[in-house]
Amino acid sequence: EKPAVCIVGSINMDLTITTNKMPMQGETVLGNDFATYPGGKGANQAVAAARLGANVNMIGAVGNDSFGKTLLNHLGAEGVNVEGIITNTDQPTGIANIILSEDDNRIIVAPGANNGVVSALIEKHRELIKQSDVVLLQLEIPMEAVVHTLKLANELNVPVIVNPAPYQTLPDALLTNAAFLTPNDIEVESIKKETLYDSIQEKLIVTQGDQGVQFFDNGKKQHVPSHQVVVKDTTGAGDTFNGALATQVGKGIPLKQAVEFANAAAALSITKLGAQSGMPQKQAVEQFLLERSDS
Ligand code: RIB
Ligand code: NA
Repeated sequence: EKPAVCIVGSINMDLTITTNKMPMQGETVLGNDFATYPGGKGANQAVAAARLGANVNMIGAVGNDSFGKTLLNHLGAEGVNVEGIITNTDQPTGIANIILSEDDNRIIVAPGANNGVVSALIEKHRELIKQSDVVLLQLEIPMEAVVHTLKLANELNVPVIVNPAPYQTLPDALLTNAAFLTPNDIEVESIKKETLYDSIQEKLIVTQGDQGVQFFDNGKKQHVPSHQVVVKDTTGAGDTFNGALATQVGKGIPLKQAVEFANAAAALSITKLGAQSGMPQKQAVEQFLLERSDS
């Protein structure tokens, strides 16, 4: 049985430059290669979930331009149902400017068309949410649409995973009504400052890069260590984790096992350039977990 995962979120074209040296303030440096890659936290999570065997419905927006057309075709080719994606004629397709050096990456996002993901669009696709096993959200679309989706999913008894990235102050409704929140180690520091932190601690699944993943399982603190791999590009590692986690949660897999699977999928994803290029198929994750448990 394939789990049904609904992703409400962003779609970007990633404009990526690799460099030996990060430019300092006011400095120009000569970089290495430039390439465009499909990206956006929402789309990345959608592709991860689809490759890992979910039926994925995405609600989002692209612009009426060549990036938009490319990204829409690409999502369709990855097996994502794009019925819920509109073409926003007011703003250009979202882009992310990414600078990648050996040990650092810096990203700035211009959301553009993603701002067209509003409550009315979510309402229009109520059915997609209703038939889902799980809904997955991030914060690259207007917060009002994020909150609306969460409330609607709650009403329809569909659990919601909120990936609070890029971090913004979280409305109380998000903290209380999400089944899980998946901050990284930087985002969790901001969450600790939220008033409801004490009451929501146990629904946090914190991704800590090479330090692994920390979470609670039945009230008990758990830690899953990261896997050592040859790192090419960590862009989208968190998205792979989230897409994978949603797939497993949607299937009803116990949390610890779900996190282990997502953690392995994320490890594989960082071995190739581009957010989505290294995202594995389900069999590859299973194989990897087997190999790593032997050694
Ligand atoms: O999480 C990685 C993603 O963040 C990139 O693909 C970029 O588009 C930004 O949204
Ligand atoms: Na990658």
